[in-house]
Amino acid sequence: MNTTNLFTPLTIRSLTLKNRIALSPMQQYSGVDGKPTNWHLVHLGSRAAGGAGLIITECTAVSPEGMNTLADVGLWNDEQVEAWKPIVQFVQQQGAAIAVQLWHSGGKGSHTHPNEGFKPMTVENGGWITKSSSATMMSGVVPAELTVAEMQQIKTDFVEAAKRAVEAGFDTIELHAGHGYLFHQFYSAVINHRTDEYGGSFENRIRFLIETVQAVRAVIPETMPLLVRISAVDYLDTPEAWTLEDSVKLSRMLVENGVDFITASGGGFAHVDKSLVYTGYQLPFATAIKEQTGVLTGTVGMIINAQQANDIITQGAADVVVIAREYLRNPHFAINAAKELELETDIPWQYKRGY
Ligand SMILES: Cc1cc2nc3c(=O)[nH]c(=O)nc-3n(C[C@H](O)[C@H](O)[C@H](O)COP(=O)(O)O)c2cc1C
Repeated sequence: MNTTNLFTPLTIRSLTLKNRIALSPMQQYSGVDGKPTNWHLVHLGSRAAGGAGLIITECTAVSPEGMNTLADVGLWNDEQVEAWKPIVQFVQQQGAAIAVQLWHSGGKGSHTHPNEGFKPMTVENGGWITKSSSATMMSGVVPAELTVAEMQQIKTDFVEAAKRAVEAGFDTIELHAGHGYLFHQFYSAVINHRTDEYGGSFENRIRFLIETVQAVRAVIPETMPLLVRISAVDYLDTPEAWTLEDSVKLSRMLVENGVDFITASGGGFAHVDKSLVYTGYQLPFATAIKEQTGVLTGTVGMIINAQQANDIITQGAADVVVIAREYLRNPHFAINAAKELELETDIPWQYKRGY
């Protein structure tokens, strides 16, 4: 009989999560010079105080060109390390673990703040020339094709950012390889039209991600878990589209190269039809990857209540539930879930009189 439930701890390498609930990365567009602000302390800190076992930061750029908007956060300099430290410490003081989601937006960069319309920004207006696997139009702009030398530099930026993450005290690192951002722009043939060793075959298209995983794994402690978020499917009905079968193959390669945990998300190049977005709509991706590769998986997408979240774990369909929008409505999702399911969890002593 499976006795694992939503509040059963999970150990990954030497990190133990107190439960199976993670705050999903969500861009807050509230950074200043790539530094997180008090907004991030409160946003991440309150979900930690609300009982989540794992807090994952929003996508955090490894270089200024890796950003999406100028209000994103980063980890390319020492000032940013110092700005992250109190946030990391506060989250850990609540008994939660914290991951930084390292990222490069590639061809999706150089956009205005969402409150200013999220429009492509020109160089004259403070933007930058975006670069990608190929010069394929995305988000209204045609990026330049990256040279192999530029790709080497980006790999180095990931390595340096990973070292800074360790210095800032993060418990773990997640590489963002989904949602139409740079790594996904390489592995999906929808965008990648290169003719060198980074384009064409499946092996060539995943090479840039795999090489970056190897480089990051080599500089972080052996005891530290390495997580990756992928888009398990492109949600596109074309022969070039990335498929779940591709994701299973990619996941095997990621595991062989030291990845411990994969969150199976989806999409990033096209608007996903609303009819495809229902409760737990991406769970089959996490389940297939878990069953076919044995890797620990996180499931994300419309996980919105305690019973649904607990069922996913008790049925062994995924190892962690990764929750985004429900957490915008309910920062204490985890504590409330424990109460509803009549399971034990810690409540901050400051809040005990409320329960
Ligand atoms: C405001 C907002 C910002 C997001 N930013 C990120 C991000 O930085 N990194 C990421 O991997 N996903 C990001 N996402 C996607 C979510 O993490 C999640 O995959 C998606 O919202 C589906 O989960 P949900 O149905 O629980 O919201 C964002 C979603 C929202 C709503």
